[in-house]
Amino acid sequence: MIIVTGANGQLGRAVVERLLSHVPAERVGVSVRNPEKAGELSDRGVRVRQGDFADPAGLAHSFEGASQVLIVSADAVGGAAVGMHRAAIEAAGAAGAHRVLYTSHMGASPSSLFAPMPDHAATEAALRDSGIGWTSLRNGFYATSALMTLGDAVRTGELAAPQDGPVSWTAHADLAEAAARILAADNGPDGPTAPLTATEALDFAEIAEIASDLTGRPIKRVVVTDEEYRAGLIGHGLPEALADLLIGMFAASRQGEFERVDPALGQLIGRPPTPFRDVLKAALTTAG
Ligand SMILES: NC(=O)c1ccc[n+]([C@@H]2O[C@H](COP(=O)([O-])OP(=O)(O)OC[C@H]3O[C@@H](n4cnc5c(N)ncnc54)[C@H](OP(=O)(O)O)[C@@H]3O)[C@@H](O)[C@H]2O)c1
Repeated sequence: MIIVTGANGQLGRAVVERLLSHVPAERVGVSVRNPEKAGELSDRGVRVRQGDFADPAGLAHSFEGASQVLIVSADAVGGAAVGMHRAAIEAAGAAGAHRVLYTSHMGASPSSLFAPMPDHAATEAALRDSGIGWTSLRNGFYATSALMTLGDAVRTGELAAPQDGPVSWTAHADLAEAAARILAADNGPDGPTAPLTATEALDFAEIAEIASDLTGRPIKRVVVTDEEYRAGLIGHGLPEALADLLIGMFAASRQGEFERVDPALGQLIGRPPTPFRDVLKAALTTAG
């Protein structure tokens, strides 16, 4: 059985949806913190069990009978994140899984300026030490993260953010399709994949141009200092730790940590990855 964690989240749910077009539902199980939210999957024949990385004993039940486990990285940082991922890897091994897939990041590195990247690197080290077959999906930076930074710039006509560098913003749907295909084929490559990215890297000046073009309204890119941006975020109620994390994203992008583009994602999904422009267009349409 293929077990997917985080299946009530955006990426995990999309992986399950894609997986169900490749394999029968009875071969798919989800390990979720809140099974009630996965009722629709249960109705379609997917095994839904409660599992929380913070409760390793419970994972024995939700991973029972696993042949492969996709561990969707938790939305946490630091030792807490790595500890939970380690617990999930151990539980997958104990359940008899022959392969763990893990949603890492193209920028995974112990020396990154963006806090989640050393966590991904540490989790990859834990996978390497686990003795289980493992595939680390080095996912490109989510295009949705750029949409969040864009915020209400379309309404205000101003995209004020620190100096950045180009990022190969990548669609959730494409990353989900890649993970689903690897799981369905049961042929995950060993170790970290190539960066799974869209085909172009864009900075926020270029994103402002695309948004202007799509909306017909001028959007000006304004560069503010890291300190000004941080103060603005905290002024809007963001916890300091989260503000620092976001500043780290800009600092890392200035260093070119997320600028690589690679054909691997397109090869895995058998079509060109979704351009950022299309992700933005869809978001603008949904927002009305
Ligand atoms: N590549 C990138 O650029 C990028 C950007 C941002 C984040 N990420 C990483 O990618 C992950 C998936 O992205 P997403 O868009 O699907 O995020 P999401 O919608 O926030 O989903 C995160 C999932 O992690 C689950 N989770 C959190 N803590 C857990 C725990 N203790 N035990 C088990 N599951 C736990 C959540 O469970 P519940 O549904 O129960 O809350 C949720 O399903 C994120 O969690 C983050 O680690 C990557």
